[in-house]
Amino acid sequence: MLRVTQKLLAKAQTCTHLTKHVKRVEPFSATIRWKHTDTTYKGVFAPFLSPSQEEIEEDRARQYYPRLTAYDTAKYTSPPKRARMLVRDFIDDSLYNPNYGYFSKQAVIFSPETDFDFNSMRDHLEFMNILGQLYRDMESEADEPWYGYAVAKYLVSEYKLNLFPHKDLIIYEMGAGNGTLMMNILDYIQQNEPAVYQRTQYNIIEISGQLAERQTLRQDTRDLKDRHKCVKIVNQSIFDWKIHVPDQCFFLGMEVIDNFAHDLIRYDLNTLTPYQALVTPNMTSAEFIPTKLFMLLETLKTYFPKHRLLLSDFSSLPDSVEGVDAPVVQTRYRGTMVPCSTYMVQPGWFDIFFPTNFELLRDMYLLVCRGSSAGNDKSVKVLTHREFCERYGDIESTTTKSGENPMLMYYENMKMILT
Ligand SMILES: C[S@@+](CC[C@H](N)C(=O)[O-])C[C@H]1O[C@@H](n2cnc3c(N)ncnc32)[C@H](O)[C@@H]1O
Repeated sequence: MLRVTQKLLAKAQTCTHLTKHVKRVEPFSATIRWKHTDTTYKGVFAPFLSPSQEEIEEDRARQYYPRLTAYDTAKYTSPPKRARMLVRDFIDDSLYNPNYGYFSKQAVIFSPETDFDFNSMRDHLEFMNILGQLYRDMESEADEPWYGYAVAKYLVSEYKLNLFPHKDLIIYEMGAGNGTLMMNILDYIQQNEPAVYQRTQYNIIEISGQLAERQTLRQDTRDLKDRHKCVKIVNQSIFDWKIHVPDQCFFLGMEVIDNFAHDLIRYDLNTLTPYQALVTPNMTSAEFIPTKLFMLLETLKTYFPKHRLLLSDFSSLPDSVEGVDAPVVQTRYRGTMVPCSTYMVQPGWFDIFFPTNFELLRDMYLLVCRGSSAGNDKSVKVLTHREFCERYGDIESTTTKSGENPMLMYYENMKMILT
């Protein structure tokens, strides 16, 4: 199954009967300010709109603040002050700073212990109630295998078509969370495709030390005979990856790219020139551009030249901040996720995650990894979650008594790119 993170539940909470006390909060602090180029106001409102002497001096001083990247701030133990950062570095630092970043203290990955018995559920509302209860309990952890089985089925069929029996089935998974997908994929191959299993290698690239340990533990707590010996876990960010992998391999990333930081641009309405962090009256509204996702594609092209890619994530999100492809910024307050109206919030206390524009991603992929112009390569596909599951999933065993299929219904805003 597609592991259900707090993000799904947040969506469910804002959309269904689980909705409770959801409100928008205003900026905690404006850590990054837009630079206003025209500060001379005329007329009766001038005294209210013109900047104070203090603001003018602050603006002047700001020009001399050092420009920091997320790499620079990784060694800081509290968020930087009197510094300038690109939006992508600010977001990156807010999420991933090893000392105060959101993931170093807040993140919990929800992965229920037992498989859902869809066939005995009345309808999708009962499914949402059970999901909500499980999320609140949050005690246990284990397999929710149907999604992993569908991915395994896809991998095996592509592998058999092109590489079996001469080459190994080599899988890289970026950001494996609790290790559930890895276990489910390998269990499926072991049980259903023993000859392929003999040739399978599974590598995890995981940025979080805590989660890398949990992935190892996931194996160690099984009986010796049930452990998958073909797994290697590398505790490292994909952005620090420097090993050349010449083999044909599958590269997976499920619900990882949504936290990849974006830059923010606006276009001049007359010339359509894009500007970064600069506001004048004749500019379009903000557009968030997936800079780190672009960097991931460059990493794939450089270090995994013969990869086949499978990325799955949110294609749209409710309650995002303003702007094109804008993120959702939220924090947990008394058990409820509270969405905010800006990404300029106290670093470390908020999750910031983006919808992925998969059609744009497809064009970017073709340009970076295939060197071809956009749109003319049929082997790079964008599928909805529903299309993928209908093709490779077990629809029958995930259908409720009323004939609904919650696993298709509740992932309507997920898509995947397959190459
Ligand atoms: C939301 S979880 C998703 C986990 C799992 N793939 C799933 O679908 O349930 C995101 C995972 O990606 C990892 N991650 C985030 N950024 C990463 C990066 N730059 N390199 C490697 N792993 C990363 C996180 O630590 C976490 O394990």
